[in-house]
Amino acid sequence: MPVPDIAWAYPLLLKTHVSLVVGSVGLFALRGIGVLWRHAWPMRPKWRRLSVVIDSALLLAGASLWWLLQLNPIHQTWLGAKLVLLLVYIALGTMALKRARTARARALFLLAALACVAFMASVALARHPLGWWAP
Ligand code: HEM
Repeated sequence: MPVPDIAWAYPLLLKTHVSLVVGSVGLFALRGIGVLWRHAWPMRPKWRRLSVVIDSALLLAGASLWWLLQLNPIHQTWLGAKLVLLLVYIALGTMALKRARTARARALFLLAALACVAFMASVALARHPLGWWAP
């Protein structure tokens, strides 16, 4: 249950969080495709900075919801699963944009990162760690 006197902030934070998810994943996907096409722009400081700003705001909005709803990731296992998947998503994303050596590996990491973040969204929407496989 949201903390009562600031419960008004819940819909605002949720909308902000979801909009930032769309912005963050959209920018990541475009940068990933740009890297695959050997464009230089995805790794230019302007786009890297924009990505850091959006991702930080996304985390802040998520953490604020977490605090507002007084969730415990051990008991609300969907949140625990989402936080673990976030680490997997970050690792796959780093491989797709920077670390993978061949174009084929970068493409596979990009697809895996996008599948991971889509599953995270399904976990959040279902409020269940199995996401789209929830009973
Ligand atoms: C790329 C990463 C993330 C994705 C794709 C994502 C996705 C979503 C989506 C789609 C919702 C909306 C659910 C709905 O409308 O019913 C949501 C809600 C939420 N997210 Fe995230 N999220 C991400 C990161 C995070 C992080 C890092 C945290 C915590 C620090 C977090 C905490 C929450 C909380 C607490 C809610 C509200 C749940 C509720 O209303 O019961 N999210 N997330």
